Amino acid sequence: MTTTADESRALDEIKIGGLGSSRKRVEDDRFIRGKGNYTDDIVLPGMLHMEILRSPLAHARIKSIDTSRAYAIPGVHLVLTGEMMATRNLAWMPTLSYDTQAVLATDKVRFQGQEVACVIADDPYIAKDACEAIEVDYEPLPVIVSPWQGLAPDAPVIRDDKVGQADNVIYNWEVGDEAGTDRAFEQADVISKLELHYPRSHPSPIECCGSVADFNRATSRLTVYMTTQAPHIIRAAVAMVAELPEQMIRIVSPDIGGGFGNKVPIYPGYVCSILASILLERPVKWIEDKTGNLISTGFARDVYLKGEMALRKDGKILGVRMHTDADHGAFFSDAQPSKFKIGLMHSAFAAYDVPVAHLTARGVYTNKAPGGVAYRCSFRVTEAMFFQERMVQAAASDLGIDQAEFRRMNFVRDDAFPHRTPLGFLTDSGQYAKCLDVGLKAIGYENFREEQAEARKRGRLLGLGISTMTEPLGAGNSREYDILGIKMFDSADLKVHMTGKAILRTGAKSQGQGHETTWAQIVAHELGIPADDIIVEEGDTDTAPFGMGTYASRSTPVAGAAVAMVSRKIRAKARKLAAHLLEVSEEDVEWELGRFYVRSSPQRGVSIQECAMAAYSNMPDGMEPGLENTAYYDPPNLTWPFAVYIVTVEVDPATGVWDVLRMVAVDDCGVRINPMIVEGQIMGGLTEAYAMSSMQFITFDADGNCVGSNYMDYLLPSAWETPGYELHSEVVTPCPHHPIGAKGIGECAAVGGPAAFVNAVMDAVSDTGIRNIDMPLLPDRVWEAITYRRDVSGAPPVRQD
Ligand code: CDP
Repeated sequence: MTTTADESRALDEIKIGGLGSSRKRVEDDRFIRGKGNYTDDIVLPGMLHMEILRSPLAHARIKSIDTSRAYAIPGVHLVLTGEMMATRNLAWMPTLSYDTQAVLATDKVRFQGQEVACVIADDPYIAKDACEAIEVDYEPLPVIVSPWQGLAPDAPVIRDDKVGQADNVIYNWEVGDEAGTDRAFEQADVISKLELHYPRSHPSPIECCGSVADFNRATSRLTVYMTTQAPHIIRAAVAMVAELPEQMIRIVSPDIGGGFGNKVPIYPGYVCSILASILLERPVKWIEDKTGNLISTGFARDVYLKGEMALRKDGKILGVRMHTDADHGAFFSDAQPSKFKIGLMHSAFAAYDVPVAHLTARGVYTNKAPGGVAYRCSFRVTEAMFFQERMVQAAASDLGIDQAEFRRMNFVRDDAFPHRTPLGFLTDSGQYAKCLDVGLKAIGYENFREEQAEARKRGRLLGLGISTMTEPLGAGNSREYDILGIKMFDSADLKVHMTGKAILRTGAKSQGQGHETTWAQIVAHELGIPADDIIVEEGDTDTAPFGMGTYASRSTPVAGAAVAMVSRKIRAKARKLAAHLLEVSEEDVEWELGRFYVRSSPQRGVSIQECAMAAYSNMPDGMEPGLENTAYYDPPNLTWPFAVYIVTVEVDPATGVWDVLRMVAVDDCGVRINPMIVEGQIMGGLTEAYAMSSMQFITFDADGNCVGSNYMDYLLPSAWETPGYELHSEVVTPCPHHPIGAKGIGECAAVGGPAAFVNAVMDAVSDTGIRNIDMPLLPDRVWEAITYRRDVSGAPPVRQD
């Protein structure tokens, strides 16, 4: 068998760990040896420890705070209260969504777990004891735990600190064509309706949040080691909020033990540790405990949806209407592009050829922790895709059309790109029907339907659920996407040393996704330098170029593109060096992986390493020495990966317990840099999808007490519960505008997966006429739905006994 030139190049590239190589993750060498360097591993001379006193009540006026008993405990250095913060104008801070958030409560507490005071002491145990010695006199107020309570005319106003805020509404926002959508509904043969709740969930990284602030009075420099996914944004925020000169601030984000969106916002603990270090002139460490993390840091979802689809009886979707009510908790602190009040919820139906749509959204304050963070999701896309795929299933069933067929007939066709979605995005590539076909074949769709019918005759409930997703990944382009006015783009800085080895730094920040491995693969692809010869560093604002950080699977679409572009800049200079070394004109020089050669005499060539040496030792007259450069990349569009997830389940009608029989995943994320890492990302996402649909759940009792503030109540699936996955990679649609054709992948499975699980259970119980069971599909909820033949919707009531 002969090898083509392309195959031979691909093999050469695999040898040096370039594109398509399932190179082992280089970061794991230190992680599996226990040699990672997390924020809690940082120990500085003279370091003190900070603990936070949190509110036991969800809504109460603070009448007084007495810190005298805490101060009397030996080893206590400082007790911070809201009153003290206020004297420095730091009692409140701006959020990333143009709201304000209390750093330490002054007037009222507004959710259980809110930060009320901080103690800084010699060790964390003394600090914790001293927190308990602080006496706070609260006057309880009526508590609001749902948007409906918050919207009631006589509801107490939670944000009475805000001038002009007379109710609990945060925003009313809309997008789309209302009149056109009304007309589509007038022409419909069938109108399909569904109401859903996507419950409150929590990213719950294993490592909680924390910081070590180190202010040096002699140099006036502030160094903060912290668990942040976006160090440069934190540097800018600290400069503006604390009014410190930006050049004096260094933010270092060391290894991060999982972020999933939880480590994007700015939390009071960070601010208090910084102020404490400035006041005490000593390093101050704050490490949050698990309950603190679950009860107070950025939660996700908590959105109610009313959806309607206008349908023609042959199955064509004519229009879609959606309304969402989002429960944002006490402060509107979503980390999302400024222009979009409910994130990218309007990406719903992007993969379907829907002529017209209209979305309205309302945000409401409640007495719950703030947030609405994008938990493994590009700003509310998880909710959008869940609603979309649940509505598609309901519509197909209302029309009596097969689930798969209904999707196929309404997909945007492969030749219809670029496609303007009904709510304003521009999608540019995809092979939706092909992905569906691969999935249906893999699961054995036709056979399963027969098996299902046979099983039903014997009283067994089998179900099959399909979900598709397309996610706008890679915010932004700077025309449309900014956070607090800072345009969204990203960066890479590459320095090739004289021996041909290199160091690459980017404005992204890996939290486990493997950037140290994959970025080197992009450089290897572009320059032919073996990936093992390239070291990747992220997370230090003193050394990394400015970037917007890592969330919303934006790293590969934006920072990854910057890595390719900076490599190309280096290659352009190396070409000049090669021409000089080969004594030919630049136009006569050709490039192949890792080598320049003379077009007319291909055996005469120089390696990229020889060019690197020449950049420091033998450059042509007039050329600036060195081989290094920086690229800032502003993507022309988002990238649009696509996926089909298909699940089969069996539901036990006697108990409501459901088991996953099989799960097939077909992901098209364009060119895969590292197929093994991509598979790991998909498996992780599917596991979180399974968790959200089956067990992961934070709810509140009527007094606003958080139920789900520890791992006994907030369940994470272990390897024992996690189903097996069958992954398919045969559909590859390169992104037309990304320099190496890659699309994001980090979140796809967590975004698209939940609807597949829920649709499968709903399919299993479809004979009962039930339209909806809201997540999580706990056995008692499924049992209730089957036994009483009724929908089980909304946040489950929490028993008061
Ligand atoms: O922003 P984040 O790193 O969370 O998400 P991502 O850009 O989707 O990348 C997740 C991981 O998968 C990174 O290590 C990427 O380089 C890798 N990846 C890949 O190998 N091929 C792709 N087409 C997309 C991502």
